Amino acid sequence: MLISGRGSNLAAIMRAASEGRLPGGRLDLVVSNRAEAGGLALAREAGIETLVLSQRAAPSREAYDSLLAETLRARGIGFVCLAGFMRLLGPAFCAAFPDAILNIHPSLLPAFPGLDAQRQALEHGVGVSGATVHFVTPELDAGPIVMQRAVEVRDHDDVASLSARILAVEHEIYPAAIARVLAGGWRIDGRRVRWESRAD
Ligand code: GRF
Repeated sequence: MLISGRGSNLAAIMRAASEGRLPGGRLDLVVSNRAEAGGLALAREAGIETLVLSQRAAPSREAYDSLLAETLRARGIGFVCLAGFMRLLGPAFCAAFPDAILNIHPSLLPAFPGLDAQRQALEHGVGVSGATVHFVTPELDAGPIVMQRAVEVRDHDDVASLSARILAVEHEIYPAAIARVLAGGWRIDGRRVRWESRAD
């Protein structure tokens, strides 16, 4: 997993793994671009290998992407999950893990990509926002959508209250989406993820 901050989604995924809700998946490595990321301590406590790879380790964005891809490859990583990783990953990184990088975003994409999605939703005045798990492509928050869940925006919501309700949903759908992707039986068809065995 790639993180930059507190790591609450990481914690939800670690919990899912320990409860057997991620069949076929194992959390082998947590990488942060920031040494202060709270999620690193959570991973260490759980006995998961951690690594800090600062952007200062590479002279350019492209070089950072290559270094990160090589670092993961060298450890045999085949599937990458981003949770609050505050760097845009370019074509070189995406090509190193084709259809094998997921991200979670705190809005119903394609609405409100980028930073402060919850604030964007409030300022726009929407009645519904939510969370999205999607495949990562070099375009920001724009890859094929794996799973979404709506969250109602209430009259008295502020950024903190809306973010908290969206975060609770993130913690449910991210492990579920990872499990679903790891189970296979899907293909990417343009922008759409097609599920072979989906009943609905
Ligand atoms: C989450 O809201 C996620 O959707 C966004 O960044 C936040 C990360 O939170 N991309 P955490 O570090 O998982 O607690």
